[in-house]
Amino acid sequence: MKGIILTNYTENPQLEFSAERKNPELKPNQVLIKNAYGSINPSDLMFLRGLYGIKKKLPVVPGFEGSGTVEEVGSEIKHLKKGDRVACVSSSGDGTWGEFMATEEENCIPLLDSVSLEAGASIFVNPMTAWAMVNRAIKSGHTGIVQTAGASALGKMVVRICKEKNIPLISIVRRDDQVAALHEIGAEHVVNSSSAKFDREFMVLAKKQNTTYLLDAVAGEVAGKALTLMPAKSTLLSYGALSEKEIPIHAGIMIFQDKKVEGFWLTYWIQEIGIEAFHKEAREVQKHLDTTFHTVVNKIFPIEQGSEAVDYYSKNMSLGKVLIGG
Ligand SMILES: NC(=O)c1ccc[n+]([C@@H]2O[C@H](COP(=O)([O-])OP(=O)(O)OC[C@H]3O[C@@H](n4cnc5c(N)ncnc54)[C@H](OP(=O)(O)O)[C@@H]3O)[C@@H](O)[C@H]2O)c1
Repeated sequence: MKGIILTNYTENPQLEFSAERKNPELKPNQVLIKNAYGSINPSDLMFLRGLYGIKKKLPVVPGFEGSGTVEEVGSEIKHLKKGDRVACVSSSGDGTWGEFMATEEENCIPLLDSVSLEAGASIFVNPMTAWAMVNRAIKSGHTGIVQTAGASALGKMVVRICKEKNIPLISIVRRDDQVAALHEIGAEHVVNSSSAKFDREFMVLAKKQNTTYLLDAVAGEVAGKALTLMPAKSTLLSYGALSEKEIPIHAGIMIFQDKKVEGFWLTYWIQEIGIEAFHKEAREVQKHLDTTFHTVVNKIFPIEQGSEAVDYYSKNMSLGKVLIGG
C-alpha cells in the first residue's frame, strides 16, 4: 500500500513516501479501514518527535485520526461491516496517513449519511475534547472560562459551546488577526497576549466576568501568567503544550489563593465515561458538524506529499485543518 513512513523519533523528523508498504495484518478484534482522509493534529507533530503520550514501534505510518471505509472485518467484530463509512483513530500500528490501517472496532464511529468523509476526519479528537472540558468546568462549579490558543480549531468549538450555554468566556490569542477571526465567529471577549496592555486588560476582564477555569493548550509563560492574574480559587486545566515550555507558577498562588493545576487527556476521559457513552456523545457531535463543531479544512494533500502537508500545517495552524488523502 501507499503510505508515509516515519523511521526515527528525532527533533527534525523525516517522513518518506513509500508505495510498497506491506498492508496491515488484521487481528480478530480489528477492522481494516481503507483510509479516506488523515487529519494532522498537534498531537501528531509531537508524536513524530517522540514527545507524545503514545509511542509506536518504528517504522510506522503516523496519523492518529481520520476517516475511511471498512474494507474487511476480523472474526470477533460484532457491529461494523464491509462498506461502512467511519470516523476512526489509530492506537497502535500503522495510522491514517497511508492507504489502509487496522484498528479496533471501538476506535471507529459510523458516519451519518449526512456527514462527508472529509468532515468525518475531524470528529473524534477536537469536538469530544472541547465538549468534555467545558462540561468539566461546569460540573466543578465554575461559571466562567478562559482559554489559551483560542484561534485553534478546538478553541473555536469552545467559543461556540460557551455561547450556546451562555457561559462567559475569555479567549487568549497571540496575534491581532486571530482576535478578528474569533470576533467573526461570535466571540465576545478576546485578548492578545502579545499586546503591551495584556496583563491589566486580562486581569480586569477576568475579575469582571469571574472566569475561574482556564483551558490551557499552550503552557509556558502565558499559562502561568493567566492563572496568576485570574481570581482566587481558579483552576488551570492543562490539555496541550504548544509552546513546549514549562509552566512557571509561584507556590504562593496555590497556598494563599487556593489555585489548582489539573490535566486532561481524551484517552483517560474515554476510559472514565466508558466506550458506550463515548460513542453516544460522538453520534450526537455529528449532528452539529456544520455549527458548533465545525472544522474548517484548509488544504488537502495526496499521500505522496505527506511530508509537505506536515510542514505546511505546522506553519499555518490557525487557517484550518490539513488533511492527507483524498
Ligand atoms: N489533551 C487532549 O486530549 C487533547 C485533545 C485534542 C486536542 N488537544 C490539544 O488542543 C490544542 C489545539 O488543537 P487543534 O487541533 O485545535 O489545533 P490547531 O487547529 O492546529 O491550532 C493550533 C493553534 O495553536 C496556536 N499556537 C501554536 N503554537 C502556539 C504557541 N507557542 N503559543 C500560542 N499559540 C500557539 C496556533 O496559532 P498560530 O497560527 O499563531 O501558530 C493555532 O491557533 C493542541 O494543543 C492539542 O494538542 C488535546
